Amino acid sequence: MKDVLNVCVIGSGRAGMIHAGNFIGSVSGVRLYAMVDPVEDTAQAACRELGIDKYFLDYRDALKDEAIDAVVVVAPTVFHKEIVVAAAEAGKHILCEKPMAMNKNECSEMIDAAKKGGVKLQLAFMRRFDESFMHAKERIDAGEIGDVVLVKSLTHGPSIPKPWMYDISKSNGPLAEVSSHDIDALHWYSGSYVEEVYAVAGNYRCPDAKDEYPDFYDNVIMNCRLKSGTQGFVEGAQGVLYGYDSRVEILGTKGIIHVGKNQNFSVLTCTQNGINTPFVKSWQNLFIDAYRREDAHFIECIKEDKIPMVTGLDGLEAVKVVNAGNLSIIKKHPVKL
Ligand SMILES: NC(=O)c1ccc[n+]([C@@H]2O[C@H](COP(=O)([O-])OP(=O)(O)OC[C@H]3O[C@@H](n4cnc5c(N)ncnc54)[C@H](O)[C@@H]3O)[C@@H](O)[C@H]2O)c1
Repeated sequence: MKDVLNVCVIGSGRAGMIHAGNFIGSVSGVRLYAMVDPVEDTAQAACRELGIDKYFLDYRDALKDEAIDAVVVVAPTVFHKEIVVAAAEAGKHILCEKPMAMNKNECSEMIDAAKKGGVKLQLAFMRRFDESFMHAKERIDAGEIGDVVLVKSLTHGPSIPKPWMYDISKSNGPLAEVSSHDIDALHWYSGSYVEEVYAVAGNYRCPDAKDEYPDFYDNVIMNCRLKSGTQGFVEGAQGVLYGYDSRVEILGTKGIIHVGKNQNFSVLTCTQNGINTPFVKSWQNLFIDAYRREDAHFIECIKEDKIPMVTGLDGLEAVKVVNAGNLSIIKKHPVKL
């Protein structure tokens, strides 16, 4: 195994730049070798910001480059399957952003390709690398709250959804883009997988989507039954404006754990106008250390030939829940997976 692995980041948007940034200083034993983006201005701007020269406009050209050991797939979700399968066939180790893909068949194909190619496939559920989320998991595993009865997980995002998300058949909607992490939290904290869901959703903040995309929703709640009998509840919202909000509550037979903070600093300003504390602005701030640990774990798994803490199976199970949830919203009844 080489001392320094060459990594290529495929997709130079918001999440791609966070991963890429980690490989130019924060994670050891790795070098950011190249960026990929079909939009040349984006690829060039990314390289300038990151201080590297090499970029590709087509990921297939990057996969032909024998110097590349591993790739991070951060293109829009709809492209994950084709890129991951091609990367596995080219013998590159893969860290794939969530949601893993559009449906379970795509996920299975990706898992099979990685197995066949003999490469690592890690899923980027970065909350599993967040200190508070990890601490909660340790407390649960130590039996401090007894058996897990209910996991409630919510994510509210500040930004108004991009128009490409309006067509649920193409984007899988906020359940995929926003709530995948919450679904994974249900699985991780309960140690079980969801077997039935009932989801209710609506569009409250995107009037321009209403006529052309009546199925689009920007707010969703989903009750879940897990195979172990544990109960689950997921709440997702986009365009909330007030900040980025990610919280989990785990109720056990002997106690409860709350995870998640929404204050950016532990500063409270009190004046005659009232009390003020800055709210967390974005996932980019809240989970910055989690991303670094996630990227470091990926490199460690390759170098030490370990199984990643988050695998293709975790990605597949979350996608199955997303698809069942979207069906439940349309059919207006519970759906078994
Ligand atoms: N872990 C998280 O919390 C998190 C946060 C944000 C995004 N994501 C995921 O990361 C992925 C990208 O999201 P984003 O917010 O960075 O999107 P983005 O729109 O900011 O960036 C995507 C980039 O990919 C490029 N692209 C398009 N087609 C491509 C292709 N075929 N090959 C390579 N690049 C291509 C686009 O030009 C764009 O620059 C999505 O799957 C998203 O769900 C995960």
